[in-house]
Amino acid sequence: MIVARARVVVLVSGGGTNLQALLDASAAIDYPANVVAVGADRPGIAALDRAAVAGIPTFIAAPSHYNDHRSWDVALANATAAYRPDLVVLAGFMRLVGPAFLERFPGLVINTHPALSPAFPGMHGPRDALAYGVKITGCTIFIVDDGIDTGPVVAPVAPPVLDNDAEASLHERIKEHERELLALTVAELVTDRYRIEGRKVVRR
Ligand code: GAR
Repeated sequence: MIVARARVVVLVSGGGTNLQALLDASAAIDYPANVVAVGADRPGIAALDRAAVAGIPTFIAAPSHYNDHRSWDVALANATAAYRPDLVVLAGFMRLVGPAFLERFPGLVINTHPALSPAFPGMHGPRDALAYGVKITGCTIFIVDDGIDTGPVVAPVAPPVLDNDAEASLHERIKEHERELLALTVAELVTDRYRIEGRKVVRR
């Protein structure tokens, strides 16, 4: 029996090591999802090179090409929808998607954030965790809502903060766990399916 794999569109802004984890995972014969397209908010980033090496189509929606955030949001939603995703993964995508995007893919957009929600939302999770002096931090995969890293939690992982950590070493330790968690979580979400009850993500 041939079972269709879930279609995943990944949005990126940078190095794309989380994207790479999904590309590597989907090379396994029994992985239940394929990355069908990679979208970016800017050209010239390593994540787009990774997509090209893997032979995955790419698109760019740069905010500077649009009059306002809403026009950009609609364009991003249209470009993403063209690939008929079952799941959209923000993997180091450093932009807030807006209402048009979220209405197009209700409950189907996940993000990964390098901190343990609800602590340290925003662009500098590892730096803020270090500055606070926490001994455990991590990464959180969540369903995207209209806040900043506020959506219902799907899965966390919590590596330690070491005494001699700097932002870069801490972020790299988080990312080692994050990549594995992301590949696993995408597989689980597209296989088990899920529903969102308030702030809870309940597997079916
Ligand atoms: C990841 O650690 C991801 O959690 C973070 O950017 C990194 C991207 O790494 N995202 C955010 O901080 C979003 N608020 P990558 O480009 O190597 O996958």
